[in-house]
Amino acid sequence: MTAYDQLRATLPTAPRTWLITGVAGFIGCNLLEALLTLNQTVVGLDNFATGHRHNLDQIQQAVTPEQWARFRFIEGDIRQLDDCHAACTGVDYVLHQAALGSVPRSLEDPIATNAANIDGFLNMLVAARDAGVRSFVYAASSSTYGDHPGLPKVEDVIGNPLSPYAVTKLVNEQYAGVFARAYGFKTIGLRYFNIFGAHQDPNGAYAAVVPKWTAAMIRGEPVWINGDGETSRDFCYIANAVQANLLAATATHPDAANQVYNVAVGDRTTLNDLFEAIRSTLAPRFTHLHDFKPSYRDFRAGDVRHSLADIHKAQTLLGYAPSHRIGAGLLEAMDWYVLNLI
Ligand SMILES: NC(=O)c1ccc[n+]([C@@H]2O[C@H](COP(=O)([O-])OP(=O)(O)OC[C@H]3O[C@@H](n4cnc5c(N)ncnc54)[C@H](O)[C@@H]3O)[C@@H](O)[C@H]2O)c1
Repeated sequence: MTAYDQLRATLPTAPRTWLITGVAGFIGCNLLEALLTLNQTVVGLDNFATGHRHNLDQIQQAVTPEQWARFRFIEGDIRQLDDCHAACTGVDYVLHQAALGSVPRSLEDPIATNAANIDGFLNMLVAARDAGVRSFVYAASSSTYGDHPGLPKVEDVIGNPLSPYAVTKLVNEQYAGVFARAYGFKTIGLRYFNIFGAHQDPNGAYAAVVPKWTAAMIRGEPVWINGDGETSRDFCYIANAVQANLLAATATHPDAANQVYNVAVGDRTTLNDLFEAIRSTLAPRFTHLHDFKPSYRDFRAGDVRHSLADIHKAQTLLGYAPSHRIGAGLLEAMDWYVLNLI
């Protein structure tokens, strides 16, 4: 039995109250579904900057009416301290996901990214500290490794940030560290590596690569690879990220708190490999994909060339054991994309 199996067996017997910020977004709504399914009480905060009401509607369909009744949604903004205080009241565990994602978005509008990701983050830390929550888990990012060439990425060896987005995620870690040292507040940062899965937005200029390519393939549109396609990433299925959040919030290992952890699989996949993996997963359902090829264009500013995680720290201190490698994750995720895109 894994640590996560054990946690899922015990949580329903002692339900807690969880706050998910960014609950209408991709990772947030998947966390919501997992927690409601475990009969937890959940407060959700979102301002729909990039999240969608339809994500919440779909989670409502996926759980029982009794489970849905344990969810309270607050439409609010983490840039407003009052909204953060209101959301944190009576909460045991915070899973802070709200932020403006995307490296290119931050290069185009660093002020907006800074406001949500740094001002908003600090507001949430203050509100959660004031409310006396048990722990504060937050979405950090693999972009924090910046220009450091070492592979695999180990938590305590980072380089210089390559984008405003990466700066904000690094500052989050520094603020969390200061709150631990100055106020004895318990935080855990999860450095996500290219998470993908159901509910990830395929539309818009800042869509992530898996949903963007999946949508393009289903719709019969061109798929563009930035660069030569040998850029690589450690693609991580959403179920693994959900697992990491729940284990982090409830971690009991004496050294687990006030740390950051890589959340990934430890597999390196090139963009050329990813293209082929998505194409071959979809091909049995779409004949136009049997002989489909990608188009290539210039490298994109701010992108790091290779990213691959060492996940030993999360395995050792949190009991993290990824349940899905990329192929199994794509297979599950494609059902949702096919249903929602055609
Ligand atoms: N998806 C990934 O691969 C990945 C990788 C690294 C880090 N992250 C981080 O994980 C978190 C969740 O990302 P996601 O992929 O689910 O993105 P997402 O855009 O789907 O979700 C973010 C949510 O935060 C909300 N939000 C944004 N600004 C807000 C504000 N000011 N007040 C309240 N709500 C606000 C959005 O409306 C959205 O629902 C983010 O912090 C992101 O930076 C994601």
